[in-house]
Formats: sequence, C-alpha cells, structure tokens
Amino acid sequence: MISKKMEGLVNNNSVIRRMFEEGKKMAEEFGADKVYDFSLGNPNVPAPKKVAETIEALLAKEEPTVLHGYMSNAGFPEVREKIADSLNKRFGTGFTADNIMMTVGAAGGLNCALKALLNPGDEVAAFAPYFVEYRNYVANYDGVLVEVAPDTETFQPDLEAFEAAVTPRTRAVIINNPNNPSGVIYPEETIKDIAEILERKQKEYGSEIFIISDEPYRELVYTGAEVPYITKYYANTIVGYSFSKTLSLPGERIGYLVIPSEAADYEQLFQAVTIANRVLGFVNAPSLMQKVVAECLDEKADIGFYAKNRDVLYDALKEYGYSCIRPEGAFYMFIKSPVPDEKEFTEEAKKEHILLVPGSSFACPGYVRLSYCVSYGTCVNSLPGFKRLAEKYGL
Ligand SMILES: Cc1ncc(COP(=O)(O)O)c(C=O)c1O
Repeated sequence: MISKKMEGLVNNNSVIRRMFEEGKKMAEEFGADKVYDFSLGNPNVPAPKKVAETIEALLAKEEPTVLHGYMSNAGFPEVREKIADSLNKRFGTGFTADNIMMTVGAAGGLNCALKALLNPGDEVAAFAPYFVEYRNYVANYDGVLVEVAPDTETFQPDLEAFEAAVTPRTRAVIINNPNNPSGVIYPEETIKDIAEILERKQKEYGSEIFIISDEPYRELVYTGAEVPYITKYYANTIVGYSFSKTLSLPGERIGYLVIPSEAADYEQLFQAVTIANRVLGFVNAPSLMQKVVAECLDEKADIGFYAKNRDVLYDALKEYGYSCIRPEGAFYMFIKSPVPDEKEFTEEAKKEHILLVPGSSFACPGYVRLSYCVSYGTCVNSLPGFKRLAEKYGL
C-alpha cells in the first residue's frame, strides 16, 4: 500500500502531464500535423549549436573520471565561479562561487530551498496564477501553500491581498518572473513594494520571510522590459534559475540556486541547501551539463522564434474575440475561457485537436493556458479550430 500523501497525488495526477500523454496518442491517431498540442512548456527550438560543440570538446579533452565523477554537492567550483561572474557582469551583483549551488533544474533547486527553510505547518505564499507544482513542492516538506488571489485585469500581484496573506507563520513567498502561465513581467516598482511589505512584516512578527524567486524564463522577454534581479531589493532571497527553457535543455535537468551573502544565517543556509541536494537524492547536478552550461552562459534563446508564435496567435485570437493579455515574457498565453467552466472549453478544444491546460491547474479557474513553444506551423494551422470555437461560443 502506498503512502497517504502519494495516494492523493496518484488520484490527482498532473493534468498537464496527462494532456501531454493524450497529445502523443492523438498524434498517433490523427497524425502529428493535425494535432495542436499547446499543453507542455517543452521548447521546440533546438539548443544552441555551442551546446553540442561544448559536449564534444569536453568529451575529447577532459579526464572522464572528473567529467562524469562525483564532486562537492554544491557542484564544480569553477562552474559556480563562472556563473557568479556572469551574474555580476549582467546585474551588478557581487556573488562568488560560494553563493551558487548547481541544481537538478529549477524543480530540484526549489525543492532544496523549501527543504532548507520549512518546518511543518509553515506557510508559503504564491501569487495565483502560479506554476502547478509549487503546491506539491511545498507539501513535500509539510508546508502549507497560501494562495494570493489573482488580479485578472492585469495578472500583476494584488499587493493588498498579499499583505493580508502574510502571517506570523509565513516563511517564504514564491515569485515567478516572467510568469508561467500569464506571460506577464512584474516590474521593479512591484518588486520594491513586495520587498517593503515583507520588511515591515518581518519586523512586526520578528520573523524571517524569504523570497524564493523562480526564474526559468528570465531571458525570455519580448518587450525590452527589465526583469528586476531580486537580490538587489531584498536580503532574504533565494534565486532559482534553470537552463531548461533558455538553452532548450529541459531533459538535461540543470540549473542553480543563488544564496546571497546578505541572507539571514547565510552560511548555515548555504550548507542546508547543499545537504538538501544530497539527502533528497539528487546528490549533485548532472556533472557533464554543469560544465556545458558554464561555457554557454552568453548563449541566447531564440527569442525571434517565440515572438513570431506569440504574435500570430495573439493577433488572431484577439480578432476572433478571445480575451487575453499580450504576453511580455515566457512562452505562455493565458486566455479567458468563453464559458465559466474552462474544463468544458478545453474539452471542446480537444474536438478541434487543440490541447490547452485548464486554468484551475494554476489556481485560476475560468482561464486556459496555451504554451506557444511549438512550431510556427502548429500555431498557424490551429487558427481555423480556434475560429470555429469562437463562433461556437458566439465571441
Ligand atoms: C515556473 C516554473 N518553475 C519551474 C519549472 C521547472 O523547471 P525545470 O525544468 O528547470 O525543473 C517550470 C517548468 O516548466 C516552470 O514553468
């Protein structure tokens, strides 16, 4: 018999993953070019050439027992140093290798951060709509996810609701910028306001409240908007980064955490995340990939590819009468369902071979998420189906 915790998860398995499986089946049945699978954030752009070149060069020149071997749980020191230097150059920060821990993607990093911070019953606030797995990650350490209700006009954080949600039990706030699923970017003013509220609440409650900044989409920005680097605004911060999206390496499971020296009990916290990496069974981030990303820190995601998809979909959907805000970053669009029950809409969309994720998976029912990290052809060919759906619902 499996554990009670896992029983809940088995019975309620990820809608997104289920859809991904369903999309594969539909592609077999109807042909891949007749299925418009917008369900998963799996980049369709190949990794930059430099990734393969670096792998080949590393295999040729590095000592295999080092390249494929264990290292310190925090990762190779020279890799961590290169990442620190790159961040300092780009954001004017002052990190060293001692502020960087290599992780198994953003997901591994978030789990290490939460394991390091949470006692059972501690609260972690998150702004809805938020990445579906946050609730599970927080529950892994017997924490309680506290939802801050969405502002569906702007999808920017509702700061009044946020302030009301911070309690003496609040241990952390997860911020995801640029945002999955809404595609919005939280500007500097908002980050400053969040920092100010937390400073005040820390004083009031005599507590330490961390911002965990989840940033796998940091470089995926279409508008020239700045994504503020959060350690510059607030001391008790942990930044989680991943190369899954920007370098199109989601299956390679590589990312890092930044623990700034200004964070409360920094040394102990750094040790805690490192030990968490070990005891959660990750042990260390994949060794070859650590060395690969260290050589690819200046590589850029193909923003033009995603921008083209965003534009063709956004313009057409608006023309058909759908309601949606124009995404500024990441590769998601959050569309208002034409009917209050968005699951009804996703089922109707399936009849057009269009796969969308219900907003209730992101704590925001009444909306659906579309991932446009697919081929341009998929976007264009899906449009007649979207048009028929709009007509069906009288948009
Ligand atoms: C907001 C957000 N955080 C974390 C992750 C997990 O990323 P990774 O593949 O780096 O573990 C994702 C993946 O889609 C995401 O959208």
